[in-house]
Amino acid sequence: MMLTVRTRHGRPKRRRVGALLLLALAARRTAFAPAPVSMEGAEVELEGPADGRELLPGGVEPLRYELELALDPERSSAFTGELWVSLNVTNETFNITFNARSLRFDPQSLAFFGPSAVAPVEVTENVEAERVTLRFEEALPLGHAWLHMTYSGEMGKEDMAGLYTSRYQDREGWKTLALTQFEAVDARRMLPCWDEPSKKAVFALTVVIPAALTAVSNMPAAAEMTFFKTRRWKKRQQFTKITFLDTPRMSSYLLALAVGRFDSIQAQTSNGTLIRILTVPEQAEFGRFALDVAVRALAYYEEYFGVAYPLPKLDMLAAPDFAAGAMENWGLVIYREVDLLCNVSTVGIARKVRIATVVTHELSHMWFGNLVTMEWWEQLWLNEGFANWMQTHAVDVLFPEWHIWEQYVVEEQSRALRLDALRSSHPVEVPISHAKEVDEVFDAISYCKGGSVVRMVNGLLGEDLFRQGLALYMQRFAYTNTGSTDLWACWEQVSGLKLQKMMSTWTRQQGFPVLLVNASDARAGHLSLRQQWFLADGSEQPGDETKLWHVPLLPGPASREASPSILETQEMLWQAPNGAAWVKFNFGQLAPYRVLYDSPRLRTLLAGAVGSGQLSAVDRIGLLLDAMAFAKQGQLPIAELLRLVAAFKGEQSTHAWQALSEVLTTLHRAVAVAQGDFRAVDVAVGNGLLQGALHEVGFRAKDGEEDLVRHKRALVVGLATRYMPTDKELVKEARQRFESWLKDPLQQDALPDDLKTSIFKVVLINAETDAPYRALRRLAKLSDTPQAVRLSIYSALGAARRKDLRRKTLDMALGGRYGVRLQDIMYPVQGVSSADPSGARLAWRWFIQRRGAITARLQGANVRLLGVVIQCAAGALPEKAHANAVQAFFEQHPVPGLERSVAQVVEAIRTEAKFVTRLEQGVEDTELKDVLQRFEN
Ligand SMILES: *[C@@H]1O[C@H](CO)[C@@H](O)[C@H](O)[C@H]1NC(C)=O
Ligand SMILES: *[C@@H]1O[C@H](CO)[C@@H](O)[C@H](O)[C@H]1NC(C)=O
Ligand SMILES: *[C@@H]1O[C@H](CO)[C@@H](O)[C@H](O)[C@H]1NC(C)=O
Ligand SMILES: *[C@@H]1O[C@H](CO)[C@@H](O)[C@H](O)[C@H]1NC(C)=O
Ligand SMILES: *[C@@H]1O[C@H](CO)[C@@H](O)[C@H](O)[C@H]1NC(C)=O
Ligand SMILES: *[C@@H]1O[C@H](CO)[C@@H](O)[C@H](O)[C@H]1NC(C)=O
Ligand SMILES: [Zn+2]
Repeated sequence: MMLTVRTRHGRPKRRRVGALLLLALAARRTAFAPAPVSMEGAEVELEGPADGRELLPGGVEPLRYELELALDPERSSAFTGELWVSLNVTNETFNITFNARSLRFDPQSLAFFGPSAVAPVEVTENVEAERVTLRFEEALPLGHAWLHMTYSGEMGKEDMAGLYTSRYQDREGWKTLALTQFEAVDARRMLPCWDEPSKKAVFALTVVIPAALTAVSNMPAAAEMTFFKTRRWKKRQQFTKITFLDTPRMSSYLLALAVGRFDSIQAQTSNGTLIRILTVPEQAEFGRFALDVAVRALAYYEEYFGVAYPLPKLDMLAAPDFAAGAMENWGLVIYREVDLLCNVSTVGIARKVRIATVVTHELSHMWFGNLVTMEWWEQLWLNEGFANWMQTHAVDVLFPEWHIWEQYVVEEQSRALRLDALRSSHPVEVPISHAKEVDEVFDAISYCKGGSVVRMVNGLLGEDLFRQGLALYMQRFAYTNTGSTDLWACWEQVSGLKLQKMMSTWTRQQGFPVLLVNASDARAGHLSLRQQWFLADGSEQPGDETKLWHVPLLPGPASREASPSILETQEMLWQAPNGAAWVKFNFGQLAPYRVLYDSPRLRTLLAGAVGSGQLSAVDRIGLLLDAMAFAKQGQLPIAELLRLVAAFKGEQSTHAWQALSEVLTTLHRAVAVAQGDFRAVDVAVGNGLLQGALHEVGFRAKDGEEDLVRHKRALVVGLATRYMPTDKELVKEARQRFESWLKDPLQQDALPDDLKTSIFKVVLINAETDAPYRALRRLAKLSDTPQAVRLSIYSALGAARRKDLRRKTLDMALGGRYGVRLQDIMYPVQGVSSADPSGARLAWRWFIQRRGAITARLQGANVRLLGVVIQCAAGALPEKAHANAVQAFFEQHPVPGLERSVAQVVEAIRTEAKFVTRLEQGVEDTELKDVLQRFEN
């Protein structure tokens, strides 16, 4: 029997398969090894480039997947698939190897259609490597061919990975929907595929589902057909077969599907692209805000990148269960409900900013990531670092009133610097040999440091050249894959600046420098500038000094330099501009490094700039966060840090308050565990800083108030909750608001979303009975409680002081009657561990005792979720003995795939514990006493 494939796109007619089956059967007799099979294959599989990447063997390129999938999520978790892959055999080979995980193949269906049809003589599944190899008796003919297979699989229930089911409650009761999450390596759980970002192909998807359900995918439906099928007991059921249009050439991790009952709202961009919000029934109205952001952002990006959005539509779907915040599947972005839906007239500001940011983040991926994709996971930062920058840039354009770049420095840049100051950090471009290792790299380095590095380039090039370089990059590499050097090359081409070498010091090298500014050892009128690897704990090891970065000095307030001065060597003498009272380096906090001034210069800066308001908020924030890091490291006396904090008395900027909140939260935690009497510090901060601020912001929002004013109120009340939770006035206010809110929880006036977590905490801390605790827990269970309120409750419950209540709160992470969804597992844990030192101890003990149950619940989910739980349970107690205990525990019970995260948690605890020791040693410091007094004046 000979079969010929004539047209490139037309696959062989199905009737021909029957003939082929005979062949397959014949082959089977000789050597069919039923799956799952031997693990020995693992060693042989190591092929690919010499850099140790475990890539699929070459020789065969997928061009097009034609997949027909049948599923009925409301009745069964099983699904079946029939797949035709159009391939190009480019090198002589006997084998075809692709990825698949937990799929059961129909052995008789496996066949290769080249010039003739052949069945494999052997099928080997390597379960560990998630690969299947088909071996053929003769070398496969070069050129175009089709591969055919039918298979079945199971949708995971709580996995939130691959094709999985998610449950929600509506008026009629519990319902089930099905959806996908593939990045990084879970497409292979729905279909056999070449699951690597550079194996781009066209996906032509067809689904067969019950007619009562709807299906959405990357592309709109091209055809729909309804038919009846007789089920068991002669019950006829109506089904729909939906064929979606071909996707563009894209990576497998971007494929997406959702099947269920959805409500939607929609709008069109000025360019005519249809954008829809899809939700479970009766929730779509809550997507108005996100829809509006998406319409404006998509239009903005088309103009910015100079490339039209390439697909006919964009769906944004809110999923009841979702492991990440959102996923940028091309044309079908899927979000956690809380990151997409809100009532815009009542939503808390932090949440509103978050929704806008998540939407702009995902939509930027439609170009950066989807149209142009990283060539391998080592370059993940190209996707995520860029989106981290772009999300902020776009929100700044759409909502200038939010001053989002200030928030960027407080949240994103500082997260980057915090993590990257650890010895257990990693370079932005981190070698990934096996794709599974990439899970751990979806971290603050890829996102926040990556974004901060992009921001630095933006600062050096200026908006125009920066954008031109990107537009060039989009045009040059559309539908292909790239590495960092491709991006640098485009920026070099438009600007004439040399970037390659400079940027590699930031992306190929772990860590970042501190710039030491010193006048005492320099000529008059000069400053000596020195760079040094910044390590959070101030430790030094031989060889540390060899690290060098190309550090843009960015001195201010002088105007923009013609060409940026860059420190490439260890040190230099820098001529200070004449007549300047003060100078601040890294002006505008454009680059991810810290600056330490000698103490006369720091004082001049404080006097000349902070107090009198000559420094912009972003630079005040930079000084404060740097000072905190230096105090932790031991380079700055704690008295100096407090002197700086005191200078923020009367601060107006919301984001400076956000930075203060970071600093004061760390300080408070240190004071709480330190041996000795440090109440004076708490009292000084409470009376000297917070009382006044609280009085100024009040509890009640004024009509027409700006978003940032509301946000500042939330921050100040949050700090007050920490520093003075038993303050009479605060308790009275909180109780009143809480009581009137409890009477009508959907009514917002008494208790705006912004303040809920804080007010709940104050009420719980001061409660005489467990009534408020029970009331809150019950509310969290009700289906009409909005998700954002539910999260506020989960976060607050840990504040209740009784140990039995705290244990109950922790156990909510495990499921059960009051249990949280798996996606929310970290909230109750964090609520308890961050409450106070005894909460932190309890959370860690709970983790040890319940480890079996915790890991069992997280079994099928992405390992990152467990990483977050560990971080919450272990990371909140800054004591050396605790760091040792955590380290010892994970040495005994290692968690594969989280080795680096655990090391980071341990190192961060050790660093903070050193800070506590320093605080203890400084208790008799007269200067400290002096500073504390200044707070209150
Ligand atoms: C396939 O053949 C090309 C050209 O003959 C060669 O450059 C390439 O390395 C081969 N690839 C593999 C995976 O053997
Ligand atoms: C198949 O691969 C060969 C060799 O790389 C190439 O010349 C040819 O254009 C490819 N064919 C298709 C259909 O992609
Ligand atoms: C084909 O795969 C089998 C099993 O993985 C392996 O033993 C064999 O060496 C491979 N043959 C070729 C030609 O790649
Ligand atoms: C979309 O709008 C941009 C400018 O905003 C324009 O350059 C582009 O041609 C438009 N694309 C389509 C498909 O209309
Ligand atoms: C949003 O909240 C306002 C004020 O509480 C309310 O009037 C409105 O109905 C809510 N919107 C939706 C869609 O529920
Ligand atoms: C500044 O230089 C002096 C003299 O070399 C040195 O003692 C001091 O530690 C330096 N200060 C900083 C912040 O580098
Ligand atoms: Zn992203």
